Amino acid sequence: MGRFYITTPIYYVNDVPHVGHAYTTVNADAMARWHRLIGDDTKFLTGTDEHGQKVADAAARHGVSPQQWTDQTSARFRETWDALSIRYDDFIRTTEPRHYRSVQKFLTAIYDNGYMYKDVYRGLYCVSCEDYYTLESSDEGRCPVHGRMLTEMEEENWFFRLSAFEDRLLAYYADHPDFVTPETKRNEAYAFIKGGLHDISITRTSISWGVPVPWDDRHVFYVWYDALINYLTALGYGDEHDEVATWWPASHHLIGKEIIRFHGVWWPAMCMAAGLEPPAHVHVHGWLLIGGQKLSKTMAADGAVRLTDIAPTVLTDEFGVDALRYYLLRDTVLGNDGEFSHEGITQRYNTDLANNLGNLVARVASVVATKCGGLGPAPTLDSPLRVSAQEALRDTREAWERFAPHAALEATWRLIGATNAYLESTSPWKMEPGVALEGVMGDALEAIRLVSVMASPAMPDVCREIWRRLGLDGQPGDETIEVSGHWGLYPPGRPVEKGEPLFPRRA
Ligand code: ME8
Ligand code: MG
Repeated sequence: MGRFYITTPIYYVNDVPHVGHAYTTVNADAMARWHRLIGDDTKFLTGTDEHGQKVADAAARHGVSPQQWTDQTSARFRETWDALSIRYDDFIRTTEPRHYRSVQKFLTAIYDNGYMYKDVYRGLYCVSCEDYYTLESSDEGRCPVHGRMLTEMEEENWFFRLSAFEDRLLAYYADHPDFVTPETKRNEAYAFIKGGLHDISITRTSISWGVPVPWDDRHVFYVWYDALINYLTALGYGDEHDEVATWWPASHHLIGKEIIRFHGVWWPAMCMAAGLEPPAHVHVHGWLLIGGQKLSKTMAADGAVRLTDIAPTVLTDEFGVDALRYYLLRDTVLGNDGEFSHEGITQRYNTDLANNLGNLVARVASVVATKCGGLGPAPTLDSPLRVSAQEALRDTREAWERFAPHAALEATWRLIGATNAYLESTSPWKMEPGVALEGVMGDALEAIRLVSVMASPAMPDVCREIWRRLGLDGQPGDETIEVSGHWGLYPPGRPVEKGEPLFPRRA
């Protein structure tokens, strides 16, 4: 049994959650569920990033205090995750006292180790990115991501000696070839370090919405500098009884590609500076695009046409939770950009869910009702489906383990395809009741049982429903897949329920 600690970025609460946030969170949730299913000790962390200029500005725009604003907006994230059947083990808010304690402890360690100094910062800043730019890295003074004019900043700040970590970071990358995946993203981060690192300004005196700097109380920490530490706060870093040794550094950070520098460069350097191992793994995914444009709230405010105004719950209302989750996991490679569209989700829904999965469950239940007295027969041990099931399980497992949900689902769906094909070729609906018919139906029920185990990390709710309709007790994840993944466990004699279509076809 292994150990698996997975995190999402903590999302800014300048606005409510959108489909881009759901993309990362659903992927992380499915991965956590897969690891629970294989029996790993699993911890899944998500949460909200509540400090900084951008959030303070949003609160001011709405005429409420930053605390009030973050309270209400953070709650919207939780509600959305509930609606998407997200099962996190911890939800962190950076305004919590536990986070202040960990941040102050961690950054004091860096200070004590001699990696902080005071200087004047002069340069360009994008509040939407909460990130620094130089004139060369900007688009003629505009933010290359958000397109708006960068702000000139000049302040006396505390700096982090990032430049001191160039060699150590390069060595860490060399020794840990899978630190950042996929490889293209790893190369990007590596090239950035190779290009030379500058020290970074990590405190502010111009705003007060942040974690106070313990050794200089006119300053608060720069939002990114407190935010990254959330991954350790959730392990009780700095508390008397922490869980750091249990979960660190065996952690996996799932992030979008625009924040690779923070996770692939700053964060490992910060860990080294504080005397900790860097995290084991950062997996970088691409952007969901609509007509080629990233879904970003900040840009929508600029008047560009985009889909940030689609709340994930609008899609669950239309398609159901499981279908939205399936689409987000199945339609794009987790690492590449992907196109989000209404036609895309409708097509996945009709093809993979209604025609393949839904139809399989319905036709099997219907033959069991008409020809087997409504009770499921036993599977056979030499079924041709047995090999398909074993191959599907092997490929599904391998794909989840390499952070490839789309391939995992593709593999699981091969068993659905094989089962539908088996039914076409044997045509049990034309067979006379008897041993042969019962064998075919028992095999089909067994294949469906295995599909509902394998697909449960992606679609927990519908798989539970299928499990129930098969007459099985409990739910698909009650036992680890080491137990439930064996062919032949479907117990005969259970009432099989036809029920309403799981995925009624959509126009
Ligand atoms: O960056 N496609 O928060 P954020 C795919 N607070 N994923 C998307 C997306 C899209 N179009 N849009 C957003 C921050 N995301 C910081 C993180 S972590 C210590 C601090 C997802 O609210 C993706 O995971 O801007 C991206 O990295 C994240 O939302 C950014 O969320
Ligand atoms: Mg962002």
